[in-house]
Amino acid sequence: MTIETEKQAVVAARKPFYKELRAGQKVLWCSCGQSKRQPYCDGRSHAGTGFEPMQYTAPRDEEVLFCGCKQTGTAPFCDGAHSNLPGGYRDEEADPAQPEVAYSQPDEKGFARLNGNCYVVTPPPAVAGQAWALTTLVSPALGARHQSQVHLRLASGDSPVLASDVGDVALWIRAGEGEIAIGDRRFPALGGSGVSIRRGETFRLTCTGAPLDIYASVCPGGDRLDERAAMADDFDAAWPDRVVGIDQESRHAMGPRWFQMLVDERHGLNNTAQFVGHIPKSRAEMHRHLYEEALIILSGGGTIWNETSRARVNPGDVIFFPRKHVHSLQCTADEGMDVVGLIHPGTNPGINY
Ligand code: FES
Repeated sequence: MTIETEKQAVVAARKPFYKELRAGQKVLWCSCGQSKRQPYCDGRSHAGTGFEPMQYTAPRDEEVLFCGCKQTGTAPFCDGAHSNLPGGYRDEEADPAQPEVAYSQPDEKGFARLNGNCYVVTPPPAVAGQAWALTTLVSPALGARHQSQVHLRLASGDSPVLASDVGDVALWIRAGEGEIAIGDRRFPALGGSGVSIRRGETFRLTCTGAPLDIYASVCPGGDRLDERAAMADDFDAAWPDRVVGIDQESRHAMGPRWFQMLVDERHGLNNTAQFVGHIPKSRAEMHRHLYEEALIILSGGGTIWNETSRARVNPGDVIFFPRKHVHSLQCTADEGMDVVGLIHPGTNPGINY
């Protein structure tokens, strides 16, 4: 496919190129899109185009995604711009019948396992009379390498004092009404908002109305959130803004989908990003990411497809995606599906390959 853009750079590929580089390795990235050695310059095709190749030297051994569409704002790397090019974002053929791909059923703990250590987990329902509950959804013991996640319910009063010494914490408050103390600071804890907590900071939740229903992610992951005997005066004032709600003005288009960043590096998280997104009734084409992801289904429903298995997903469920795992999420609800995702390591949920 070649599409001439107004900048005259040719769309050499509608997805980025995955490469493994060694520390100190130098490459020349093609910016004109006409090289026959994509994603690298072939030494001649840019002549007369007005474009010059860009040299990149790997600072360390690393995996990178070089832009193939040549429309990125973060050259030479992909920034997700390819999804918004004509023909750049593709859905699978509408609801293909693939009876040979079996449905995975949830086990007694609510885990439906797919291939490659991808899974869907349903948090346990609230128990009448139980004020506080913590359930592990994602952890190293469950196969995650870069993040962990627990589900928290607080029906009244205060939670234990919590902290993580292994990573930063990102909360998604799905429902409820209350307050969160981080060190000596107080913030509202309301359904529909994300909260960031820096590594080592103590925090405590207080329920003042409807029960709090919270997904707490730790990046990099540890086995659990630690309980502490008391709050400490440990709020990191270098990062004063910690709560982000849903804001229609902040949406980014991604083909027919959109996403909005919640808490991320602007709020003290390190190489971690939380976002809310919307998926219309459709099925994305198979793709993968260089980050590990936990995706919470907020509304709607559908099917998560792997290459050899699939599972149904419903509101409240979490899908865990390992790095580089090939998958496709299908929304089957007429009204679409809303999700909240947490990615690490990475800061841009729009990048896929
Ligand atoms: S391939 Fe160009 S922005 Fe992703």
